Amino acid sequence: MCGIIGFTGYIDAKEVLLNGLAELEYRGYDSAGIAVCTERGIETFKNVGKVASLRNEIPAEIQSSCGIGHTRWATHGGVTKTNAHPHSCGKVTLIHNGIIENYHELANELAKEGRIAQSQTDTEVAAMLLDSLYTGDPYAAISEAVKRLTGAYAFCILFADQKDVIYCIRKGSPLVACMAEEGAVIASDMVALLRYSKEYFVLPEYNIAKLTKNSIMVTDLYGNTVTPSMLSVNWDMSAAQKNGFKHYMLKEIHEQPESVRLTIRPRIKRENGFVLPDFSEDKIPDDLFMNAGRIIITACGTAMHAGLVGRILIERMLRIPVTVEIASEFRYADPIMDERSLVIVVSQSGETADTLAALRLAKEKGAKTLAIVNVKGSSISREADYCMYTHAGPEIAVASTKAYTAQLAVFYLIALRFAMAAGKLSDKQVSEYMNELEAVPEKIEKILKKRDVIKELSKRLTPASDLFFIGRGLDYALSCEGSIKLKEITYIHSEAYAAGELKHGTLSLITGGTPVIALGTQKDVFPKLISNVKEVRARGAMVILVTNEANDGDEALEKGICAEHLVIPACKDEFAPFLAAVYLQLIAYYTSSYRGLDVDQPRNLAKSVTVE
Ligand code: G6P
Repeated sequence: MCGIIGFTGYIDAKEVLLNGLAELEYRGYDSAGIAVCTERGIETFKNVGKVASLRNEIPAEIQSSCGIGHTRWATHGGVTKTNAHPHSCGKVTLIHNGIIENYHELANELAKEGRIAQSQTDTEVAAMLLDSLYTGDPYAAISEAVKRLTGAYAFCILFADQKDVIYCIRKGSPLVACMAEEGAVIASDMVALLRYSKEYFVLPEYNIAKLTKNSIMVTDLYGNTVTPSMLSVNWDMSAAQKNGFKHYMLKEIHEQPESVRLTIRPRIKRENGFVLPDFSEDKIPDDLFMNAGRIIITACGTAMHAGLVGRILIERMLRIPVTVEIASEFRYADPIMDERSLVIVVSQSGETADTLAALRLAKEKGAKTLAIVNVKGSSISREADYCMYTHAGPEIAVASTKAYTAQLAVFYLIALRFAMAAGKLSDKQVSEYMNELEAVPEKIEKILKKRDVIKELSKRLTPASDLFFIGRGLDYALSCEGSIKLKEITYIHSEAYAAGELKHGTLSLITGGTPVIALGTQKDVFPKLISNVKEVRARGAMVILVTNEANDGDEALEKGICAEHLVIPACKDEFAPFLAAVYLQLIAYYTSSYRGLDVDQPRNLAKSVTVE
């Protein structure tokens, strides 16, 4: 939610900022701006629309080696040039990611000193506050401002009389930094640093970073020097680029065989002819689950949908009660938790505000916490008692794909490891499941080869205004993900329904030609699902049926039962969501493309939601 970048060094700052903003654009794309230090002082350029439209605003002759840049996802105030960042007041120019909750109160106080905001943003009030506190010592002004601000923030600040120096502070919202040959860089996400370095650090909360051309100095609010621990990534620039694909989403869909492989590989041991899950590298003790009286999975969006699959797997294999809670609800629901509760938080970014707050609440109540996170060093990964990383690499498209399947992979490993430790499954049984898990990437590859079939089929969905996903059990959990994927990028209204629930309301919405995607990959409920397919067919629905090759001999599967039939490679039913998910992702992708929409950056959405 909003991307920010700061650079000071030896090369053209505006190029560093514009390139960085293009890489951070997935975080917000309604307006963008930069401020650079030039011979004339600090000069600011902004525009509404995407980062590309900002480039045209900046005169080619602008020379600078220090500046800050921002790409916005509006929270306070509409999408206008005035509301775009950077915001300035007196000697202060800054960019911000987060929400200042008490900005109204502060604005009233500052108005008494004659300081009136030009924009409708909370950010400008922060600039006004800092300027009112600034008497030549940036540390003193920032430390005092922090006492007065409530909410979440990551700031990069330029002071007019501190040429070529950037000051930064954060609480809640992310900031990572690196020192490279070209200079010092700080940004919301590692992807914007990757051109310069693979080594970086996370700026600790409430610490001030001072960036100069050849150093980054970090101090706490009392002036003590802090040495943050360094992190590194093993991917390079190409991982964060489109690599010949038309969209990031399509590229990321195709990366799934590899990201699932990379997520499973470090967690496998081969012993006595068995393939077994092993969490010694993750340092997760078996008693984490053994001692859990109940398990709560909490997350937002797609990560929460991965949790729906995780719940079924864990309950089925481990026989411990599991609930899945939407993080934004959970945190305000006064949830019942104690030290025998295990809370699993799932997040691609590791920064989603509600998920982070849910994690903090769980810790406060004494529950044990385990995070499943993609971004190394992110807040959630650092704050949870235990963390299992998905190794999906950078995910840039707003619609999550490879992070979802990598999260599923971790849930399979968890369910199997702990079912084995608890003696609920024998080594032999676990090993059979693990063989299936290891075969998933290859089966995903087979589905990807059928993309032209999906492309063709998606033409039939392009004119739809409503679409329904139905399924039972694991297929219902996957329906929820299929539906969100479709609606977020195609803008077609869609809903996921437990197939057995149709008769209790939704059936009234099925009319001639309404597309229904029916997931029928689970043998135990297959005949029931087929009955539901017949019910919607009888009302004129256009049914796309997804089945498991392993169950295709089932008598219920009559010829002509559906308008389109997609088959996933034969697998144990538990593994079907991995494979069927890829069909649903491709359907959403191609339907969005045919509708001529911005697949990677759908309207009103952002990849990383760091506000509540
Ligand atoms: C946003 C993204 C979704 C994502 C959700 C949770 O809504 O658009 O793709 O699933 O946030 O994000 P997280 O980073 O916590 O997984």
